Formats: sequence, structure tokens, C-alpha cells
Amino acid sequence: MNTIPVEIDHAPYPIYTGSNIISNLAEKLAEKKLTRQIAIITSKHIFRLYEKILRAALPPGADVQVLYVPDGEGAKSLEQTEHLYTWLLEEKFERSAAILAFGGGVIGDLAGFVAATYLRGIAFVQIPTTLLAQVDSSIGGKVGINHPLGKNLIGAFKQPEFVLADSQFLATLPDAEIRCGLGEVLKYGFILNSELFTYLEENLEAALRRDPDVLGHLITYSAAEKARVVAEDEKEAGLRMVLNFGHTFAHALEAEYKFGELKHGEAVILGMKCALSYAAEAGTLTSADFQRGLDLLNRIPISYDKSRLEIKRLIERMTLDKKVKDGQIRLVLSDRPGHFYLENQAEVRRLETAWQIVLGR
Ligand SMILES: NC(=O)c1ccc[n+]([C@@H]2O[C@H](COP(=O)([O-])OP(=O)(O)OC[C@H]3O[C@@H](n4cnc5c(N)ncnc54)[C@H](O)[C@@H]3O)[C@@H](O)[C@H]2O)c1
Ligand SMILES: [Zn+2]
Repeated sequence: MNTIPVEIDHAPYPIYTGSNIISNLAEKLAEKKLTRQIAIITSKHIFRLYEKILRAALPPGADVQVLYVPDGEGAKSLEQTEHLYTWLLEEKFERSAAILAFGGGVIGDLAGFVAATYLRGIAFVQIPTTLLAQVDSSIGGKVGINHPLGKNLIGAFKQPEFVLADSQFLATLPDAEIRCGLGEVLKYGFILNSELFTYLEENLEAALRRDPDVLGHLITYSAAEKARVVAEDEKEAGLRMVLNFGHTFAHALEAEYKFGELKHGEAVILGMKCALSYAAEAGTLTSADFQRGLDLLNRIPISYDKSRLEIKRLIERMTLDKKVKDGQIRLVLSDRPGHFYLENQAEVRRLETAWQIVLGR
């Protein structure tokens, strides 16, 4: 088992990575004195797959209750939050209790928000079961739910006691979810870690086939990159924005597909192609490095209907992104593998060229 420290002021915590490491759960909960009352927030689908393994790993004698929420983004709602509060109150969960999030990013965000607010905050543990959650959403303490007027608008910063990312849970993950997680892994390679980039060039197909050693390596290195960024910038005042590489483009695509056909991580893969193209056009990324990056991203198959995409509308959507200030589109770009820079005023003409790379016109 690897231990990656997240060195956040006042609330440092470890991320444990490895395969079949869930067996350490009882010991890690005992270290935090969280062995009395435990509420597992999960979905029926995920819990059914791993109930036996998870129950065997729980502290003996603990009062354990399992709370189900529906699968899918819709679970990040005020309604589900209220439902969970009611349930915890009726079951008399006290301030010394712990909430275990067992699922993907949806469950981590929702369970973390409940843990941040129930009785003004109780202990919280992340056991992420998707690749995206293991390398991204379970780390950094951003928790929250959606509002009918927009995604992730209601939330808090709540650091977990620890994150236990066991790669054995990825065996049952659909291919599309593996692709999505790899999108975020590639992001760390492009902007933060050139060794990770080279490793991906050599092992991408093995990762898509879910080779456990390769996935284990990618999870450990990606989690360490995210941990480093969030420790430097816990409350998202600066450095954390580099994690938006490819995302300004991706958000426009997601809005265009109404968050349906194209999954977030897939949109990020396309968005990173645009970001590379923008930097190549600006002359900050050599054409050799541009081609290298594009070749890597093109190895992940993504099917989407590009016929109804319009560059003008996509650029309008980029201007509407909630991270836009004073109407200027800010971009995180890469000028060589493993390195980022910021573009504070994106030029429309270059954006138009950048979009061509995914529209192919
Ligand atoms: N808090 C953050 O910093 C942060 C960062 C990135 C994303 N997010 C959030 O994360 C969410 C997306 O997370 P996600 O991509 O994990 O999606 P998800 O939680 O919806 O999970 C994807 C699907 O995989 C299924 N699943 C989960 N684990 C499984 C397993 N082991 N085997 C089989 N199926 C499994 C789920 O039931 C679900 O249908 C979004 O709501 C996004 O806003 C948060
Ligand atoms: Zn993302």
C-alpha cells in the first residue's frame, strides 16, 4: 500500500493507493477512533458488487448502516441531501460518527456535503470506486451538490480523514468510465508531470485494458499530483486553476451536449486537443510536441456527433463559463509535456482555429 500525504494546513490527511488494500480499512478507522457509528453512503448497484469485500473490512462491533442513493448525477440534489439528513437523524447518528463515501464522484461529492453540514460537521472518509474519483474528485475537499440553476453551486470545503483508493474496484467499471478517468490522468501528464506523460505514451492501451499494474501506477502518480496542487492552494485562490487544462473547452462541449451524450472526461480529452492546438497556433508549443500530444489523445476512442457543433456558439459558451472574469477567456495551456502556462486573454481568432481540431472542418 502506498501512502500519499495531502499537506493541507490544519487538516493534513493521507491517500492510500494500491490493489486489495480495502483490508486495511478497520485499522485506519481505528487510528482515527472512528469505529463506533458508521454510515456508508453508496448506491445499490455499487454496493451489491462489493458488499462482501467491504463488510469484511469494517471494524468488528461497529454500528454500521448503509444508505443508498440513486446512481447518476441526479443524486447530487437538495432532495437527496435532505433525505440523508433525515435518515441520519432517525438512526440517531451522533457527532462522533463517521460517513464513508463508497462510490464515484457523485457519491463522494454528496456524502462529503452531508458530512460537512450534518450536526455542523462529522468525520468523513472517501473510498472512491471510479478511476475519476480515485485520481481527482476524492482529493482536495471540494464537496457539494447541484442546484436546478447549475452544477456544483451549493457546497463546502470538507477534507476527508483519509482517502482509500483501491484499484480492485475498477474491475467492474464500464469502459467509458475508464476513458473518463484517463482524461484527468492525461491532464496531469500534460501540465504537471512529464514522466507521467511518457509513461502514458508507453502504456495507454494497457490502461484502457485495465491492466492492474498500469492502473495502479497511474492512480498513485495522479493522486500525488492532485495532492500537491490542492495542498498549495486549498481554497482555490490560484494554482488549483491549472487543473482546468482542457476544461474551458470541455465545459462548452458539455453544455452543447446538455451533459448527456458526451461524458465529462471524454469532453476533457477533446478539450485538451483544442488547448494543444491553441498553444501550437500561438507558437508556444512546438509542432513536434503538438503532434506528440495529439497522437496520445487520439489513441482514446471517443464517438460523438460533431455535425451540429458550431464554432461561434462554442466560443459564446466559453465566455459564459462561470470562471470567466471581465469577459476575458483565460486558458491553461501547455508549452511542453509536463508544463503549463496561463493565457489571460484568449484571442478569438486562435480559439476558432483551436476548435477546428475537434470539429475537423
Ligand atoms: N469534488 C471535486 O473536486 C470533483 C472533481 C471532479 C469531478 N467531480 C464530480 O464527480 C462526479 C463524477 O464522478 P464519476 O465520474 O466518478 O461519476 P459517477 O459517480 O456518476 O460514477 C459513474 C458511474 O459508475 C458507476 N460505478 C461507480 N463505481 C463503480 C464500480 N466500481 N463498478 C461499476 N460501476 C461503478 C456509478 O454507479 C455510475 O453509474 C461529478 O458530479 C463531478 O461534478 C468532483
Ligand atoms: Zn475534470
